[in-house]
Amino acid sequence: MDHAGHPASPGATDGGPPAAPRITVREVTRSFVTNGRSAVHALGPLDLSIGDAEFLCVVGPSGCGKSTLLKIIAGLLAPSSGEVAIDVSGDHRIPIAMVFQDYGIYPWKTVRANVELGLRLSGRPPTERREIADDWLSRLGLADFADVYPGALSGGMRQRVSIARALAIDPEVLLMDEPFAALDAQLREVLQEELLTIWQARRRTVVFVTHSLEEALLLGDRVVVMSARPGRIIADITVPFERPRSSEVRTDPLFAKLRGELWTGLHSEVVAQFDAGKDRR
Ligand SMILES: Nc1ncnc2c1ncn2[C@@H]1O[C@H](COP(=O)(O)OP(=O)(O)O)[C@@H](O)[C@H]1O
Ligand SMILES: [Mg+2]
Repeated sequence: MDHAGHPASPGATDGGPPAAPRITVREVTRSFVTNGRSAVHALGPLDLSIGDAEFLCVVGPSGCGKSTLLKIIAGLLAPSSGEVAIDVSGDHRIPIAMVFQDYGIYPWKTVRANVELGLRLSGRPPTERREIADDWLSRLGLADFADVYPGALSGGMRQRVSIARALAIDPEVLLMDEPFAALDAQLREVLQEELLTIWQARRRTVVFVTHSLEEALLLGDRVVVMSARPGRIIADITVPFERPRSSEVRTDPLFAKLRGELWTGLHSEVVAQFDAGKDRR
């Protein structure tokens, strides 16, 4: 479906009923037992419904459970209670790909081999793998580095390898955990634009964690704000800017207004999380 010019409810077809959610998070909580006894209640209870082809951004103070939530959605971590349902009715062989905060790429494999990895797991023949990998490497400006090992790359380039790897397998659901956090401001903007272009051409369900409200408003169809730990959802806004979008949307007066509203909600949570951190020391 084409959402161009239809800013609200990305899960809905024009005039039709809303599409069934692609991801449903129901009453999910997660605690971690540290030193054998004391448990840290990291997350929830949290309910969240993410529509098919929706680009959802999650913001919240550091330590509030964003990565924990993403890992639970990815199936890498079990919730302590509650459940996650993902509709993978498409015929994709790999339903979910995740881009980690710390890249998650293998230093002993070349850049191309890293990107080919997911394709290999899905059983694609070698020539096809190479073709797809090289295509994504060139889209992300890494064509000249295909045979290089990640150790020789900058942080920004490594993160692009990790993004190329996730996109190459064309997952139904793309989970991204602060993928641009380690990059300098200029590179970050370049990659944000790139991701916008890629996503607008080929819409997938995306859950994108960021601590940047600007990034969330630029990229997302919807932004949810999480509270201080244990993270719950305290605000949920639909981003009204039309697609296709570019970074020019930042100059829209509504952008500043929405940023202000989100920050009002987030501010006290950041302070609360910070104070909780002080108590522990
Ligand atoms: N494997 C773990 N063991 C113990 N505590 C953890 C573990 N993973 C996360 N936590 C704790 O859970 C809380 C939420 O962590 P995380 O999800 O990484 O937050 P965020 O991504 O929002 O910064 C933090 O207090 C963190 O220390
Ligand atoms: Mg995190």
